[in-house]
Amino acid sequence: MADAPLALLAELTHRCPLRCPYCSNPMELARASSELTTAEWARVFREAAALGCLQLHLSGGEPTVRRDIVEIVAAARAAGLYSNLITAGVLLDAGLMARLVEAGLDHVQLSVQDADEAGAERIGGMKGAQAKKRAAAALVRQSGLPLTLNAVVHRQNLHNLSELIAIALEWGAQRLEVAHVQYYGWALANRDALLPTRAQLDAATGIVDAARLANRGRLVIDYVVPDYYAARPKACMGGWGRRFLAVSPMGEVLPCHAAKSVTGMVFPNIRDTSLEAAWTGSDAFNAFRGMAWMPAPCQGCAHAERDWGGCRCQAFALTGDAAATDPACALSPHHAMLAAAVAEAGEARFRYREFS
Ligand code: SF4
Ligand code: FES
Repeated sequence: MADAPLALLAELTHRCPLRCPYCSNPMELARASSELTTAEWARVFREAAALGCLQLHLSGGEPTVRRDIVEIVAAARAAGLYSNLITAGVLLDAGLMARLVEAGLDHVQLSVQDADEAGAERIGGMKGAQAKKRAAAALVRQSGLPLTLNAVVHRQNLHNLSELIAIALEWGAQRLEVAHVQYYGWALANRDALLPTRAQLDAATGIVDAARLANRGRLVIDYVVPDYYAARPKACMGGWGRRFLAVSPMGEVLPCHAAKSVTGMVFPNIRDTSLEAAWTGSDAFNAFRGMAWMPAPCQGCAHAERDWGGCRCQAFALTGDAAATDPACALSPHHAMLAAAVAEAGEARFRYREFS
Protein backbone atom coordinates (compact mmCIF):
# COMPACT_ATOMS: atom_id res chain seq x y z
CA MET A 1 0.00 0.00 0.00
CA ALA A 2 1.37 3.43 -0.97
CA ASP A 3 1.99 5.98 1.79
CA ALA A 4 0.33 9.39 1.57
CA PRO A 5 2.05 11.88 -0.74
CA LEU A 6 3.59 14.82 1.14
CA ALA A 7 3.49 17.34 -1.66
CA LEU A 8 1.60 18.07 -4.86
CA LEU A 9 3.13 20.07 -7.69
CA ALA A 10 0.34 21.74 -9.66
CA GLU A 11 1.69 22.82 -13.04
CA LEU A 12 -1.06 25.29 -13.78
CA THR A 13 0.20 26.20 -17.25
CA HIS A 14 3.19 25.88 -19.54
CA ARG A 15 2.82 29.50 -20.68
CA CYS A 16 5.60 31.79 -19.45
CA PRO A 17 7.12 35.14 -20.43
CA LEU A 18 10.59 33.67 -19.78
CA ARG A 19 12.31 30.99 -21.86
CA CYS A 20 14.96 29.49 -19.56
CA PRO A 21 17.10 26.90 -21.38
CA TYR A 22 16.91 24.49 -18.40
CA CYS A 23 13.12 24.69 -18.03
CA SER A 24 11.67 21.57 -16.39
CA ASN A 25 8.58 21.63 -18.64
CA PRO A 26 8.38 18.90 -21.31
CA MET A 27 9.73 19.55 -24.81
CA GLU A 28 6.14 19.49 -26.08
CA LEU A 29 4.36 22.32 -24.25
CA ALA A 30 0.63 22.34 -23.45
CA ARG A 31 -1.57 24.98 -25.12
CA ALA A 32 -3.78 27.27 -23.01
CA SER A 33 -6.94 25.70 -24.49
CA SER A 34 -6.07 22.29 -22.98
CA GLU A 35 -5.44 23.54 -19.42
CA LEU A 36 -7.54 22.36 -16.47
CA THR A 37 -10.27 24.78 -15.36
CA THR A 38 -10.49 26.47 -11.96
CA ALA A 39 -13.12 23.93 -10.86
CA GLU A 40 -10.96 21.00 -11.99
CA TRP A 41 -7.98 22.32 -10.02
CA ALA A 42 -10.20 22.84 -6.95
CA ARG A 43 -11.25 19.19 -7.21
CA VAL A 44 -7.59 18.09 -7.50
CA PHE A 45 -6.74 20.06 -4.34
CA ARG A 46 -9.63 18.56 -2.35
CA GLU A 47 -8.64 15.06 -3.44
CA ALA A 48 -4.97 15.72 -2.61
CA ALA A 49 -5.89 16.88 0.89
CA ALA A 50 -8.13 13.80 1.35
CA LEU A 51 -5.14 11.62 0.36
CA GLY A 52 -3.12 13.18 3.19
CA CYS A 53 -1.11 15.68 1.15
CA LEU A 54 -0.02 18.77 3.10
CA GLN A 55 1.88 21.02 0.72
CA LEU A 56 0.92 22.45 -2.64
CA HIS A 57 3.41 24.01 -5.04
CA LEU A 58 1.70 26.22 -7.62
CA SER A 59 3.98 26.26 -10.58
CA GLY A 60 4.13 26.39 -14.37
CA GLY A 61 5.40 27.78 -16.72
CA GLU A 62 4.45 30.95 -14.93
CA PRO A 63 1.40 30.39 -12.66
CA THR A 64 0.42 34.07 -12.58
CA VAL A 65 -0.39 34.06 -16.31
CA ARG A 66 -3.56 32.24 -15.23
CA ARG A 67 -6.35 34.84 -14.91
CA ASP A 68 -7.87 32.70 -12.14
CA ILE A 69 -4.69 32.45 -10.03
CA VAL A 70 -6.41 34.16 -7.06
CA GLU A 71 -9.35 31.72 -7.21
CA ILE A 72 -6.89 28.83 -7.46
CA VAL A 73 -5.07 30.02 -4.31
CA ALA A 74 -8.43 30.39 -2.55
CA ALA A 75 -9.30 26.80 -3.55
CA ALA A 76 -6.01 25.60 -2.07
CA ARG A 77 -6.76 27.38 1.19
CA ALA A 78 -10.31 25.95 1.24
CA ALA A 79 -8.84 22.45 0.82
CA GLY A 80 -6.54 23.08 3.80
CA LEU A 81 -3.27 22.89 1.82
CA TYR A 82 -0.16 25.00 2.53
CA SER A 83 0.36 26.86 -0.74
CA ASN A 84 3.67 27.93 -2.24
CA LEU A 85 3.68 30.08 -5.38
CA ILE A 86 6.69 29.30 -7.59
CA THR A 87 7.01 32.33 -9.81
CA ALA A 88 9.36 34.30 -12.06
CA GLY A 89 7.79 37.40 -10.48
CA VAL A 90 7.64 39.45 -13.68
CA LEU A 91 3.82 39.72 -13.68
CA LEU A 92 3.38 40.42 -9.97
CA ASP A 93 2.06 43.87 -9.02
CA ALA A 94 0.81 45.32 -5.73
CA GLY A 95 -2.85 44.62 -6.54
CA LEU A 96 -2.26 40.96 -7.41
CA MET A 97 0.00 40.46 -4.39
CA ALA A 98 -2.71 41.84 -2.05
CA ARG A 99 -5.37 39.59 -3.60
CA LEU A 100 -3.13 36.51 -3.32
CA VAL A 101 -2.50 37.22 0.37
CA GLU A 102 -6.23 37.79 0.93
CA ALA A 103 -6.97 34.45 -0.78
CA GLY A 104 -4.67 32.66 1.66
CA LEU A 105 -1.30 32.23 -0.07
CA ASP A 106 1.34 30.98 2.40
CA HIS A 107 4.73 31.31 0.70
CA VAL A 108 6.45 32.67 -2.40
CA GLN A 109 9.42 31.16 -4.21
CA LEU A 110 10.96 33.58 -6.69
CA SER A 111 13.37 32.49 -9.43
CA VAL A 112 16.49 34.48 -10.25
CA GLN A 113 18.53 33.57 -13.33
CA ASP A 114 21.78 35.48 -12.55
CA ALA A 115 23.07 38.30 -10.35
CA ASP A 116 24.24 40.27 -13.35
CA GLU A 117 21.29 42.02 -15.04
CA ALA A 118 22.41 41.41 -18.64
CA GLY A 119 23.26 37.78 -17.84
CA ALA A 120 19.91 37.22 -16.14
CA GLU A 121 18.03 38.63 -19.10
CA ARG A 122 20.03 36.58 -21.60
CA ILE A 123 19.53 33.33 -19.66
CA GLY A 124 15.81 33.91 -19.09
CA GLY A 125 15.31 35.28 -22.60
CA MET A 126 13.33 38.33 -21.38
CA LYS A 127 14.36 41.99 -21.43
CA GLY A 128 13.67 43.96 -18.26
CA ALA A 129 13.06 40.84 -16.15
CA GLN A 130 15.59 41.56 -13.39
CA ALA A 131 14.08 44.93 -12.35
CA LYS A 132 10.62 43.32 -12.23
CA LYS A 133 11.94 40.49 -10.04
CA ARG A 134 13.52 42.97 -7.64
CA ALA A 135 10.18 44.79 -7.39
CA ALA A 136 8.34 41.49 -6.90
CA ALA A 137 10.66 40.54 -4.03
CA ALA A 138 9.90 43.89 -2.38
CA LEU A 139 6.15 43.27 -2.72
CA VAL A 140 6.45 39.82 -1.12
CA ARG A 141 8.52 41.25 1.73
CA GLN A 142 5.98 44.04 2.32
CA SER A 143 3.16 41.47 2.34
CA GLY A 144 4.78 39.65 5.25
CA LEU A 145 4.87 36.31 3.43
CA PRO A 146 8.07 34.25 3.65
CA LEU A 147 10.27 34.54 0.55
CA THR A 148 12.60 31.92 -0.93
CA LEU A 149 14.88 32.78 -3.84
CA ASN A 150 15.52 29.97 -6.26
CA ALA A 151 18.77 30.18 -8.25
CA VAL A 152 19.46 27.49 -10.83
CA VAL A 153 23.22 27.50 -11.34
CA HIS A 154 25.32 26.30 -14.27
CA ARG A 155 28.38 26.95 -16.41
CA GLN A 156 27.18 30.41 -17.48
CA ASN A 157 26.28 31.97 -14.11
CA LEU A 158 28.39 30.18 -11.48
CA HIS A 159 31.01 32.95 -11.64
CA ASN A 160 28.36 35.18 -10.01
CA LEU A 161 27.36 32.83 -7.18
CA SER A 162 28.66 35.15 -4.40
CA GLU A 163 26.64 37.99 -5.94
CA LEU A 164 23.54 35.76 -6.12
CA ILE A 165 23.86 35.14 -2.39
CA ALA A 166 24.23 38.89 -1.85
CA ILE A 167 21.02 39.45 -3.86
CA ALA A 168 19.14 36.98 -1.66
CA LEU A 169 20.21 38.99 1.39
CA GLU A 170 19.50 42.36 -0.25
CA TRP A 171 16.05 41.30 -1.49
CA GLY A 172 15.09 40.03 1.97
CA ALA A 173 14.78 36.28 1.30
CA GLN A 174 14.81 33.96 4.32
CA ARG A 175 15.92 31.02 2.21
CA LEU A 176 18.00 30.56 -0.94
CA GLU A 177 17.98 27.42 -3.06
CA VAL A 178 21.17 27.05 -5.06
CA ALA A 179 20.31 24.21 -7.41
CA HIS A 180 22.62 22.85 -10.07
CA VAL A 181 20.72 22.01 -13.27
CA GLN A 182 19.18 18.54 -13.51
CA TYR A 183 19.48 17.22 -17.06
CA TYR A 184 16.31 16.07 -18.77
CA GLY A 185 14.05 17.78 -21.34
CA TRP A 186 15.18 21.32 -22.24
CA ALA A 187 18.20 21.12 -19.93
CA LEU A 188 19.41 17.96 -21.63
CA ALA A 189 19.05 19.70 -25.01
CA ASN A 190 21.27 22.50 -23.59
CA ARG A 191 23.65 20.27 -21.64
CA ASP A 192 26.77 21.36 -23.52
CA ALA A 193 26.04 24.98 -22.62
CA LEU A 194 25.08 24.34 -18.99
CA LEU A 195 27.35 21.66 -17.51
CA PRO A 196 29.85 23.25 -15.11
CA THR A 197 33.54 22.38 -14.95
CA ARG A 198 34.92 20.54 -11.92
CA ALA A 199 36.72 23.75 -10.89
CA GLN A 200 33.43 25.69 -11.02
CA LEU A 201 31.69 23.06 -8.93
CA ASP A 202 34.42 22.99 -6.29
CA ALA A 203 34.48 26.80 -6.09
CA ALA A 204 30.67 26.88 -5.76
CA THR A 205 30.66 24.33 -2.95
CA GLY A 206 33.27 26.39 -1.08
CA ILE A 207 31.27 29.60 -1.55
CA VAL A 208 28.06 27.97 -0.28
CA ASP A 209 29.82 26.49 2.77
CA ALA A 210 31.34 29.88 3.69
CA ALA A 211 28.06 31.74 3.11
CA ARG A 212 26.13 29.30 5.29
CA LEU A 213 28.52 30.01 8.16
CA ALA A 214 28.59 33.77 7.64
CA ASN A 215 24.79 34.09 7.41
CA ARG A 216 23.67 31.63 10.07
CA GLY A 217 20.35 32.76 11.56
CA ARG A 218 19.79 35.17 8.67
CA LEU A 219 19.64 33.12 5.47
CA VAL A 220 19.17 29.37 5.02
CA ILE A 221 20.94 28.07 1.92
CA ASP A 222 19.85 24.77 0.34
CA TYR A 223 22.35 23.31 -2.10
CA VAL A 224 21.54 20.75 -4.80
CA VAL A 225 24.73 19.31 -6.32
CA PRO A 226 25.00 18.12 -9.93
CA ASP A 227 24.65 14.39 -10.63
CA TYR A 228 27.35 14.52 -13.28
CA TYR A 229 30.09 14.71 -10.64
CA ALA A 230 28.46 12.31 -8.17
CA ALA A 231 29.46 8.78 -7.21
CA ARG A 232 25.98 7.98 -5.88
CA PRO A 233 22.67 9.22 -7.28
CA LYS A 234 20.17 11.34 -5.41
CA ALA A 235 16.98 9.76 -4.07
CA CYS A 236 15.01 11.55 -6.77
CA MET A 237 11.57 12.61 -5.48
CA GLY A 238 12.36 10.52 -2.39
CA GLY A 239 11.66 7.50 -4.62
CA TRP A 240 9.18 7.17 -7.51
CA GLY A 241 5.59 7.29 -6.22
CA ARG A 242 6.61 7.48 -2.56
CA ARG A 243 6.26 11.12 -1.45
CA PHE A 244 5.42 13.31 -4.37
CA LEU A 245 3.02 13.74 -7.24
CA ALA A 246 2.55 16.31 -9.96
CA VAL A 247 -0.42 17.23 -12.13
CA SER A 248 0.34 18.67 -15.58
CA PRO A 249 -1.59 21.61 -17.09
CA MET A 250 -3.83 19.21 -19.00
CA GLY A 251 -4.47 16.93 -16.02
CA GLU A 252 -1.94 14.11 -16.32
CA VAL A 253 -1.01 12.74 -12.89
CA LEU A 254 2.77 12.23 -12.78
CA PRO A 255 5.25 10.80 -10.25
CA CYS A 256 7.60 13.73 -10.99
CA HIS A 257 7.65 16.90 -13.08
CA ALA A 258 9.82 15.25 -15.77
CA ALA A 259 7.97 11.92 -16.01
CA LYS A 260 6.51 12.78 -19.43
CA SER A 261 10.05 12.60 -20.81
CA VAL A 262 9.82 8.82 -20.26
CA THR A 263 8.15 8.03 -23.56
CA GLY A 264 5.99 4.93 -23.79
CA MET A 265 4.57 5.27 -20.26
CA VAL A 266 0.85 5.97 -19.97
CA PHE A 267 -0.09 8.36 -17.19
CA PRO A 268 -3.60 8.60 -15.71
CA ASN A 269 -5.54 11.82 -16.27
CA ILE A 270 -7.53 13.59 -13.60
CA ARG A 271 -10.29 14.11 -16.16
CA ASP A 272 -10.84 10.31 -16.27
CA THR A 273 -9.97 9.17 -12.77
CA SER A 274 -9.58 10.26 -9.15
CA LEU A 275 -6.26 11.39 -7.71
CA GLU A 276 -6.46 8.51 -5.25
CA ALA A 277 -6.90 5.90 -8.01
CA ALA A 278 -3.97 7.43 -9.91
CA TRP A 279 -1.74 7.45 -6.82
CA THR A 280 -2.54 4.01 -5.45
CA GLY A 281 -3.63 1.92 -8.42
CA SER A 282 -2.12 3.16 -11.68
CA ASP A 283 0.53 1.17 -13.54
CA ALA A 284 2.62 4.33 -13.96
CA PHE A 285 2.90 4.98 -10.21
CA ASN A 286 3.41 1.33 -9.33
CA ALA A 287 6.06 0.69 -12.02
CA PHE A 288 9.03 1.73 -9.85
CA ARG A 289 7.69 1.50 -6.32
CA GLY A 290 9.54 -0.64 -3.80
CA MET A 291 12.59 -2.62 -4.91
CA ALA A 292 11.31 -5.64 -6.85
CA TRP A 293 11.68 -3.81 -10.21
CA MET A 294 15.35 -2.97 -9.62
CA PRO A 295 18.01 -4.47 -11.88
CA ALA A 296 21.54 -5.38 -10.83
CA PRO A 297 23.57 -3.72 -9.34
CA CYS A 298 20.75 -2.00 -7.35
CA GLN A 299 19.11 -5.33 -6.46
CA GLY A 300 20.53 -6.22 -3.06
CA CYS A 301 22.64 -3.03 -2.84
CA ALA A 302 22.96 -1.55 0.67
CA HIS A 303 21.97 1.90 -0.69
CA ALA A 304 18.76 0.75 -2.38
CA GLU A 305 16.44 1.98 0.36
CA ARG A 306 18.29 5.27 0.56
CA ASP A 307 18.42 6.36 -3.08
CA TRP A 308 15.81 4.03 -4.66
CA GLY A 309 18.13 3.47 -7.61
CA GLY A 310 18.32 7.19 -8.41
CA CYS A 311 16.32 9.10 -10.99
CA ARG A 312 14.08 7.20 -13.44
CA CYS A 313 13.92 10.12 -15.86
CA GLN A 314 17.71 10.46 -15.97
CA ALA A 315 18.07 6.68 -16.42
CA PHE A 316 15.68 6.85 -19.37
CA ALA A 317 17.22 9.98 -20.88
CA LEU A 318 20.72 8.51 -20.85
CA THR A 319 20.16 4.78 -21.41
CA GLY A 320 16.71 4.55 -23.03
CA ASP A 321 15.58 2.28 -20.15
CA ALA A 322 13.66 3.87 -17.26
CA ALA A 323 14.32 0.78 -15.11
CA ALA A 324 18.10 1.02 -15.48
CA THR A 325 20.35 2.03 -12.60
CA ASP A 326 20.79 5.81 -12.74
CA PRO A 327 24.11 6.43 -14.57
CA ALA A 328 24.96 8.91 -11.78
CA CYS A 329 25.83 5.83 -9.71
CA ALA A 330 29.48 4.76 -10.00
CA LEU A 331 28.26 1.14 -10.00
CA SER A 332 26.14 1.67 -13.14
CA PRO A 333 27.62 0.17 -16.32
CA HIS A 334 26.76 3.52 -17.97
CA HIS A 335 28.54 5.77 -15.44
CA ALA A 336 31.34 6.74 -17.86
CA MET A 337 28.77 8.57 -20.02
CA LEU A 338 28.66 11.39 -17.50
CA ALA A 339 32.39 12.08 -17.56
CA ALA A 340 32.27 11.96 -21.36
CA ALA A 341 29.48 14.58 -21.37
CA VAL A 342 31.50 16.81 -19.05
CA ALA A 343 34.51 16.52 -21.35
CA GLU A 344 32.41 17.58 -24.35
CA ALA A 345 30.70 20.59 -22.71
CA GLY A 346 31.57 24.17 -23.62
CA GLU A 347 28.88 25.43 -26.00
CA ALA A 348 28.09 29.14 -25.46
CA ARG A 349 24.68 29.42 -27.15
CA PHE A 350 21.36 28.30 -25.70
CA ARG A 351 18.43 26.61 -27.35
CA TYR A 352 15.49 28.46 -25.78
CA ARG A 353 12.22 26.76 -24.94
CA GLU A 354 9.42 27.49 -27.34
CA PHE A 355 5.97 26.21 -28.36
CA SER A 356 6.40 24.02 -31.44
FE1 SF4 B 1 21.88 3.21 -5.46
FE2 SF4 B 1 21.59 1.24 -7.25
FE3 SF4 B 1 23.90 2.59 -7.11
FE4 SF4 B 1 23.18 0.90 -5.12
S1 SF4 B 1 23.67 0.34 -7.25
S2 SF4 B 1 24.06 2.97 -4.89
S3 SF4 B 1 20.94 1.24 -5.10
S4 SF4 B 1 21.88 3.42 -7.69
FE1 FES C 1 11.64 11.98 -12.75
FE2 FES C 1 13.90 11.94 -11.22
S1 FES C 1 13.02 13.62 -12.36
S2 FES C 1 12.34 10.45 -11.36
